[in-house]
Parts: sequence; C-alpha cells; structure tokens
Amino acid sequence: MSACALTVSEITPLLWCLRLRRLNPYMQRILVLNPKGGSGKTTIATNLASYFASQGDRPVLSDNDPQGSSTRWLKKRKPEQAIIHGVAAFERNSRMTRAWQMRVPADAAHVVVDTPAAVPSQDMPDMIKNADAIIVPVLPSDIDIHACSKCIADLLLIAKVRRDENRIGVVANRVKRNTVIYQSLMRFLETLRIPVIATLRDSQNYVRAAEQGLGLHEMKLYAVEQDLADWQPMLAWLKAKEGAWRETA
Ligand SMILES: Nc1ncnc2c1ncn2[C@@H]1O[C@H](COP(=O)(O)OP(=O)(O)OP(=O)(O)O)[C@@H](O)[C@H]1O
Ligand SMILES: [Mg+2]
Repeated sequence: MSACALTVSEITPLLWCLRLRRLNPYMQRILVLNPKGGSGKTTIATNLASYFASQGDRPVLSDNDPQGSSTRWLKKRKPEQAIIHGVAAFERNSRMTRAWQMRVPADAAHVVVDTPAAVPSQDMPDMIKNADAIIVPVLPSDIDIHACSKCIADLLLIAKVRRDENRIGVVANRVKRNTVIYQSLMRFLETLRIPVIATLRDSQNYVRAAEQGLGLHEMKLYAVEQDLADWQPMLAWLKAKEGAWRETA
C-alpha cells in the first residue's frame, strides 16, 4: 500500500481533512463528539478504528484531545496488530512529537476523530465541517442526559446540522437495561428525533480492551460476543451512510 507524501503535522486539522478528501474522495470521516466528559468518546473512537482495521481497512485515528487518550491507546498496540494510522492532531504545534505522527495512507477509507470534553459551542461549526457521521455517546444519568440535549441543540442550532442530513447518531453507552434511569434515557432519546444507532451495555470488556490497545473486534469471540452484537446497528448505520456519500461523491 502506498503512503501519500503529506506530513500531517504541518497543517491545521481543517486543512488536513480537506487534503485527505482530495487524496481520497471516498474517505468517510466519523466524528465522535460530546462535550460531556467521560461519555465514551475515546472508547467508541478506538473501537471503531479497531473494527475498521480488523476488516483489512487502514483507518486513521485522529486524536483531537489534549488528554491524548486515543494516542496512548494506539501506542499500546503491538506491531503484529492490524495497522491504525494515528494522528495526534492536538500535538500539531509540537516539534517533539512529529516523529510519531505518521504519513496518511492515500487509500485509507475511514478517519475516526476523537474529540475532547468541554468543546465550546462556538467551535462546533468548524469541528463538524466535512464530517460524514457525527456520533454522540450518552450515559444513562440525569447530568449526562441534560448535557446530551445541549450537545444536540448546539449541533442543530449553532453548527446548523439539518436533521434530514441524517449525519447525527446517538449511542446510549454503559447501559444497564433493567434500570429506571435506562428507561428515562431511552424516553429522552425518543424525544430528540435523532436516530439511536447503538445501545452499548456496561461491560468490563471495554476496560480490558483499552488497557491492551485493542478493540472488541480483535478480542476472543467467546468473551465479547454479546458486546459485538451491540455494535452491529452502529456499523450498519455507518455502512449505509458510506454508500449514500459515495453515490454523491
Ligand atoms: N460501555 C462501557 N462499559 C464499561 N466501561 C466503559 C464503557 N464505555 C466507556 N467506559 C469506560 O468509561 C471511562 C470513560 O470512557 P471514555 O474515556 O471513552 O470517555 P470520553 O468521553 O472519551 O472521556 P473524556 O471526555 O474525558 O475524553 C473509561 O474508563 C472507559 O473504559
Ligand atoms: Mg476521551
């Protein structure tokens, strides 16, 4: 596989995305976003990148969070594991880190972007530009439900994402199905009129995967079968969007 001649550390994330598009018009850019801390952005971003890698794709994982959690996860991966190209977008001004930043393969089909907590509303329009899919994870708790409703409102009203674009998908994360708060979360999500593209149970498999630089799709099937089933609707939603985008590309 050939690598393109771009060194991404030299350019801003926005230009970076535009250049990626120029290199590969079929690249799908997936943004994982929710200004509420701890909702599962990094977990979803790393597991998605791992899924695409396990499919033989050469995904790009862009870490836009100064905490660097995705970057840390990526560094834990062993050489024999499927390649995920990392871009430490938050480190773009640091000369120290350039050696780690990689050249982006021209044939990468997916870019998964992990975003930080506390993204200000006014930054959202820039952030969602060029995103084909915006995944918003939300936890079953009163505080998280409230934060999620603000995030969706900001996406619709400030970033001007139209509902009919079908770019936003909500993921109910860390759910325990037989709880009252789970029922409240699902009732709230119904009122949003935004598709709920997955319901992920609370599972130690995510914690184990994060520790090892793995995603669920790279773990022993018998251990993660139930969790993998949770991912199917989200993967199908992304696949359908990919097709729709390619038709108009
Ligand atoms: N479905 C899940 N089951 C169990 N643990 C989970 C699940 N999803 C996430 N976690 C755990 O919850 C914690 C927070 O998740 P994560 O780091 O992905 O959130 P985040 O939104 O990226 O946080 P931040 O806003 O700080 O970047 C992590 O320890 C992660 O392993
Ligand atoms: Mg994170």
